[in-house]
Amino acid sequence: MKAVIYERFGAASEVLQLADMDTPTPGPGEVLVRLHASGVNPSDVKLRAGARPGATMAHPVVIPHSDGAGVVVAGDLAKGTRVWVWNAAWQRAFGTAAEYVCLPVSQVAVLPETVRFDEAACFGIPAMTAWYALDGCAPGDTVLVTGGAGTVGRYACQMAALMGCRVITTVSSEAKAAHSGCSEWINYREVDVSEAVMDLTKGVGLNRIVDVDFAANQDVALACLTPGGVVASYASASVMAPELQFYPLMFKDITLRMLIVYQLTGQARARGVAQLTHWLEAGALTHAVVPGGGLRDAASAHDLVASGDKLGTVVIEI
Ligand SMILES: NC(=O)c1ccc[n+]([C@@H]2O[C@H](COP(=O)([O-])OP(=O)(O)OC[C@H]3O[C@@H](n4cnc5c(N)ncnc54)[C@H](OP(=O)(O)O)[C@@H]3O)[C@@H](O)[C@H]2O)c1
Repeated sequence: MKAVIYERFGAASEVLQLADMDTPTPGPGEVLVRLHASGVNPSDVKLRAGARPGATMAHPVVIPHSDGAGVVVAGDLAKGTRVWVWNAAWQRAFGTAAEYVCLPVSQVAVLPETVRFDEAACFGIPAMTAWYALDGCAPGDTVLVTGGAGTVGRYACQMAALMGCRVITTVSSEAKAAHSGCSEWINYREVDVSEAVMDLTKGVGLNRIVDVDFAANQDVALACLTPGGVVASYASASVMAPELQFYPLMFKDITLRMLIVYQLTGQARARGVAQLTHWLEAGALTHAVVPGGGLRDAASAHDLVASGDKLGTVVIEI
């Protein structure tokens, strides 16, 4: 099979190569999926760059990308079943930047007929992170989604609204506000977010923050969350080890959730997949796909994700 591989960390154009690899054979409890789309996420890009703290190559040859979608061709699910997959490159050598991937049945979900493969390549990380960050929300909650134009943020805006929450988002431009689809937005580069949130909520504040940068938004959480509120943070790229304001957070009885989508328990995953499938079948979600070319374009797709200069998930067509 054709696959994108790397054998050392480095710049995308230097280490990513298109190679011929053996097509894997499914063992007991596994499925072989003929992939049609492979999603490129920031963590795939950071992993390839060796940017993770203390990173060493865990496998001599790596096929990148955790997310993807395609059709089952062999193994323990009916041939021809359309599926989306997750965690294909999480603590595994061979991900989805290939014509085929072999995975445990527990790492695939049936894809509703109405959903395209390129859209489904956005679910493993962006959609499931958004769902997980919102898990526990109640109808009537007010939720701030920071970075509503991001791949996760955009799903979080939609899902929070579907859960019956009031949604406010932060973005850096009017175009990004439009992309988020959220009618209540704040330009976080131009105004004081805490003040704007308190104005919008008439002094009541927030029940939850779904947060793309904990370090940048810790003060907003402190100022705006009501007692018992939740910070569900999935990144802190501006400062990776920020100082935690323990007592101010404690006196507000704040729950801090530093979440990672790779580590969902089987139970949480099942609830998330069921909820997502329900929304997909109802046509309740829109997806933002940025075409990333084919397998031979993997390096430019990685560079596009690294630049952040795109609106949506970069997806490679296979
Ligand atoms: N923990 C997990 O499970 C998990 C899952 C998915 C992603 N992540 C991580 O989350 C980060 C974002 O991923 P992504 O795929 O959503 O990236 P993305 O599509 O590039 O979006 C990031 C968004 O965040 C916005 N942003 C950055 N700093 C902000 C701030 N201080 N306030 C408000 N908005 C801000 C950016 O907007 P502007 O550029 O306009 O500011 C951009 O729209 C990456 O570091 C990724 O590795 C973690």
